[in-house]
Amino acid sequence: MSTLLEEINKRRTFAIISHPDAGKTTLTEKLLLYGGAIHLAGSIKSRKTQRHAVSDWMEIEKQRGISVTSSVLQFDYNGFKINILDTPGHQDFSEDTYRTLMAVDSAVMIIDAAKGVEAQTKKLFKVCRERRIPIFTFVNKLDRYGKAPLDLMDEIEKVLGIPTYPMNFPIGIDGKYLGVFDRQKNQVELFAEDTSHGQLERNSEIFAADSPEMIDRIGQETYDALQDDLMLLDEAGEDFDKAKVDAGDLTPTFFGSAMTNFGVQNFLEEYLKLAPPPAPRVSSDGIIEPDDDKFSAFVFKIQANMNPAHRDRLAFIRICSGKFERNMNVWHAQEDKSIKLSQPQQFLAQDRQIIDEAYPGDIVGLFDPGIFGIGDTLTDSAHKFKFEDFPIFPPEKFARVQAKDTMKRKQFTKGIEQLTQEGAIQLFNQVGAGTESYIVGTVGTLQFEVLQYRLKSEYSVDVILTMQPFEVARWLKFEDGKPVTPTSLRGADRGMFVTDRNGQPVLIVENEWSLGWIRENNPNLILNPVPFED
Ligand code: G4P
Repeated sequence: MSTLLEEINKRRTFAIISHPDAGKTTLTEKLLLYGGAIHLAGSIKSRKTQRHAVSDWMEIEKQRGISVTSSVLQFDYNGFKINILDTPGHQDFSEDTYRTLMAVDSAVMIIDAAKGVEAQTKKLFKVCRERRIPIFTFVNKLDRYGKAPLDLMDEIEKVLGIPTYPMNFPIGIDGKYLGVFDRQKNQVELFAEDTSHGQLERNSEIFAADSPEMIDRIGQETYDALQDDLMLLDEAGEDFDKAKVDAGDLTPTFFGSAMTNFGVQNFLEEYLKLAPPPAPRVSSDGIIEPDDDKFSAFVFKIQANMNPAHRDRLAFIRICSGKFERNMNVWHAQEDKSIKLSQPQQFLAQDRQIIDEAYPGDIVGLFDPGIFGIGDTLTDSAHKFKFEDFPIFPPEKFARVQAKDTMKRKQFTKGIEQLTQEGAIQLFNQVGAGTESYIVGTVGTLQFEVLQYRLKSEYSVDVILTMQPFEVARWLKFEDGKPVTPTSLRGADRGMFVTDRNGQPVLIVENEWSLGWIRENNPNLILNPVPFED
């Protein structure tokens, strides 16, 4: 029997962040291959059919089986239990992505060697940096022509503001690298031809740094060039500093090719040595250490209809402390109620399974009869507290949504309610507009396409979407406590007066300028970019 602390120290929970097409799916799959969770790579990828749909997310959604396995995966490697959380690739999913990044202890950033640092990578990186979690870099696609390794390191430092520490360094010339120099082990790994198109683990041979046989194989010229690069790294490069890595101020960098399994294993092993086990979390009762024997967890994602055969809804929790046991009773902080956690599910490489126990760092899917919200805390009833709230992102895009067929009102409302609870959209009612339509607010426009797609595929409802010319929402309150109504607010007709799901009044306007007018003309009005707490 292992102790709680031993179980915690085995866990590594991370997300892969990258711009679409940098190789996240491919690398994830190769990690599963090396973890022995799958035996032939290509199974996840080959199901990813036409790539030209609205987004990767939709494609994945179309293939429900993949969505289940890719939102969170657990596999074993060398005694470690690894949890990989999927982050949606599209920029519009900043909110969803943000929540996922709240649940990890480190991040792996993939950079396409030919493209360098791309837009989406920058955004995701920023979130990781704010959380001050360690960030590991995997420079991918080294099997084909790309930017020079030193230039890429320079680009990462300049664009993202984080210095790199190359853990390994490619040997050979651009597009035809022969292997890598491992700076930790001071040895050379030369790769054999990839004859399986990356489906199987790649053979390689290890040599001492000055092995004559290795020099003979790669040629004196290549060897000399490598020595020059290594000298440059030693003299001009950063020193390795674990404290800086832990604080997210230095990124250990690996060069490789996920597709051809070049440097993948080396990356996995070094990553596991350096990446942190589950970290303590801030709560209303101070810092909660993972080895606190009282159970605690928070909900970071809710997803419905993952399996169209069962209309189930899952709440994903990240365990923060103590041991999770099936059928345990816990206290649900937001509802102030005790609940029993039955049928918990965990996600192994290919499918989901009912589990009996789980530990800090693990992600568990709970059947959710509609009681959970994003950010909710679950704790042992003997130690009640709440974890820090998740940030709320003010909506910036608005549309009126109604069902094409009024006979489908019921399904339409159900679908809209569901997506609101998942946190994909924010729902408003226009005051005085009746109940035929809703005003939906989102952070990005893609969510509207997702909304349309999911209402159709999961609830068989076609909707009419009318975009509204507004970009700013403010929750409203008068200082003297008088109710804010379309008539008590001066200039309510300059925007759209709506109420949120809890009945709080909200004004949606075109821009900051309109907001300025409202502020000036309603001197005792309090305007909030997010709902008021009470
Ligand atoms: P993503 O999840 O980050 O969006 O990227 P994904 O893994 O789907 O990879 C995007 C494309 O890049 C895929 O090609 C994939 O095969 C390719 N790729 C990934 N890693 C490497 C690598 O190390 N080297 C090279 N040369 N290519 C790589 P595709 O043509 O879009 O798909 P497919 O036809 O290969 O399935």
